[in-house]
Amino acid sequence: MPSRTYDVLVVGGGIIGLVTAWRSARRGLAVAVVDPEPGGGAARVAAGMLAAVTELHHGEERLLALNLESARRYPAFAAELAEVSGQDLGYRRCGTLAVALDADDRADLRELHALQLRCGLDADWLTGRECRRLEPMLAPGVRGGLRVDGDHQIDPRRLATALLTACERAGVAFHRARAERLDVRGGRATGLTLADGSAPGAGQVVLAGGAFSALLDGVPEEVRPPVRPVKGQVLRLTVPARYAPFLSRTVRAVVRGSGVYLVPRENGELVIGATSEEQGFDTTVTAGGVYELLRDAHALLPGITELPLTETRAGLRPGSPDNAPLLGPSGLDGLLLATGHHRNGVLLTPVTGDVMAETLAGGAVPAVARPFAPERFRTARPAARQEQHA
Ligand code: GLY
Repeated sequence: MPSRTYDVLVVGGGIIGLVTAWRSARRGLAVAVVDPEPGGGAARVAAGMLAAVTELHHGEERLLALNLESARRYPAFAAELAEVSGQDLGYRRCGTLAVALDADDRADLRELHALQLRCGLDADWLTGRECRRLEPMLAPGVRGGLRVDGDHQIDPRRLATALLTACERAGVAFHRARAERLDVRGGRATGLTLADGSAPGAGQVVLAGGAFSALLDGVPEEVRPPVRPVKGQVLRLTVPARYAPFLSRTVRAVVRGSGVYLVPRENGELVIGATSEEQGFDTTVTAGGVYELLRDAHALLPGITELPLTETRAGLRPGSPDNAPLLGPSGLDGLLLATGHHRNGVLLTPVTGDVMAETLAGGAVPAVARPFAPERFRTARPAARQEQHA
């Protein structure tokens, strides 16, 4: 049997691959997703904060514009996806409170606030007492905080499941096999060879493999995305009905230099994350990782020790050299990239879907995505290789 040919083949059935497939299929393109287990990936671990403002970092102002644009698209995106899939996504406009426990953390938070204000963002400084009035379970030692009502949350597992349904309903085909090799003929990507022996062809191939995006054989070295795995360990607790509402919004802090966040869902799940570790493709949950998360979460909310611990898991963020995604043509004809979303995959899902679908349908890369063209990493690499050979 000859393998099928599609307009678009998407490598990777995580949320970025699925949203690319769904949005492209809605434009009338014949799309297939290649993944042994579509709907999996880092979203199965992620907490789902939509934290454009509270996760702002110095030097990432360019990324901020993309993050804000995606946050702006979230309400309409979530409503459409919920309707198309018939599923509740756990999208919650609950806001976020970033707090400080000691003088050093307070100084850092003050600096973040100054940066937010310079960027024209909405964030209000609160005293410790005001923080505790909003969230009575906070430790008495909280010294102050930032209230950001615009940073929301969604349940990434529900998001992934809903995207899978939306893809199926839009006619996206699924090849439940591992992509072994990109097929390149005459200087352009023409399809994939899969581990099940099939070789579907495509007018365009999208590499959306998350942390694994650099591993596909056949991708020419000069366009291979410089993406690496950044491990995050995450805990899930359950808030029994008698303690509800334990928290009414996402609470986060930097405790002794490391970040911790607690994301409360309406169904009683409380997600605590996350470590950030450069450990290659290791997804072991370690005693040290769990200890640090519980220690820091306990410093913020001593009452968590009463709650059942229901899950511990580690996932791999697709880190890029500038912490921003790679979106659009790769530099090899017929191969596009949608990867490197690092800490912002869930937040950037709506804008990524729109940008990739527009580009795949033959339009120009939308202006909002142009600073994130993969070619920003291409220029330096041949030179670096020449130096090595010199
Ligand atoms: N955006 C949260 C994280 O990556 O841990």
